[in-house]
Amino acid sequence: MSIVRRLRLRDLRCYETADAAIGERLTIVHGANGAGKTTLLEALYLGCTGSSCRTRNEREVVRFGAPAARVELDLERHDGPHRLAVGYEPGQPKRLTADGAPVERLLDVPFRPLVSVFLPDRLELVKGPPALRRSHVDQLVAGLWPARRARRRAYSQALAQRNALLARVRSHATGRDALATWDLELGRHAVALRADRIDAIARIAKGTELVGGELGLAGRLELRLRSRSDATDAESFACELAARLDTDLERGFTTHGPHRDELDLLRDGRALRTYGSQGEQRLGLLALLLAEREALEAERDHAPLLLLDDVLSELDGARRELLLEHAGRAGQVVLTTTEPERLPDAALAASSVLQVAGGTVRELVRA
Ligand SMILES: Nc1ncnc2c1ncn2[C@@H]1O[C@H](COP(=O)(O)OP(=O)(O)OP(=O)(O)O)[C@@H](O)[C@H]1O
Ligand SMILES: [Mg+2]
Repeated sequence: MSIVRRLRLRDLRCYETADAAIGERLTIVHGANGAGKTTLLEALYLGCTGSSCRTRNEREVVRFGAPAARVELDLERHDGPHRLAVGYEPGQPKRLTADGAPVERLLDVPFRPLVSVFLPDRLELVKGPPALRRSHVDQLVAGLWPARRARRRAYSQALAQRNALLARVRSHATGRDALATWDLELGRHAVALRADRIDAIARIAKGTELVGGELGLAGRLELRLRSRSDATDAESFACELAARLDTDLERGFTTHGPHRDELDLLRDGRALRTYGSQGEQRLGLLALLLAEREALEAERDHAPLLLLDDVLSELDGARRELLLEHAGRAGQVVLTTTEPERLPDAALAASSVLQVAGGTVRELVRA
């Protein structure tokens, strides 16, 4: 895996062109509201993953009046320089390249940096529906153990096929017996997926609790996977499915399995999503993301690029320092703020600073 050295972009939101160096540790991006700070983080995310972290509708990222947007990242790895590029033109397939060669997905490129992002709307991960948390854990699994990436897709495909079969049984196109082999197949994938999630959560649970404390979150932060299944092999999962077949047939879909797991984030035993204050939810989420980053560093020997958008504004002075101290321990961090003067001097002194205004980026050279 690599670190990001430079970011170049063209016709991305408010930028016509921009070219900026990214520091080896902390990079601070500052500027007024609307200056283009979040867009720089979005560009980094886009360059690392091929997708925007801000919108599903990628048309939005193309600068008004421009035909296409482009992002390029210069990377550096132990074996030398590498480059990733993403070209997006509405109505056309996205053009992704790694070292100049077209690729289908950046996620499969071995030298692509892992990336972890905190945008203000990521609080949805704490507050929103369980599906967001499930896919977050599954992404962590993929980050920790790339070889297991395919397992979630395999489960989803088997689930879709079972649901299709349920519909056929409901319409009497086929008998109930037809489900038995599918249930075993689904069971195989379900048990594997659940084991992956348990493994991933085991890697970050203690860390989340510790980092939560370090960031000054009062109370004990706890992560828990809540699953209605306790099957440890395909056969017992198939039995659980068989026991619910009448319900499934009545409702027309599979009501049991890891697609209904819930990941609970608790503070002193109570759900943070229900009882946490805005600041507590923010700290809880930051603790989770930082713990994941430590786990990824331990497993893959490389901390993901961490993008922190406007995290400081709602934190008090002491917690702001704790966060910066923690985030700066390893790997690259890019952080945006409208108020650089409120950053601790030590953080400012140790970082690269980018000043953005009106769609231009200026690298401030330290004296
Ligand atoms: N497709 C687009 N074309 C041109 N400008 C755009 C496009 N999409 C967004 N913008 C503008 O880009 C500017 C920069 O947005 P960005 O979100 O990066 O600002 P910011 O510095 O993060 O601001 P804030 O401090 O308010 O979060 C905004 O003025 C926004 O209206
Ligand atoms: Mg912003």
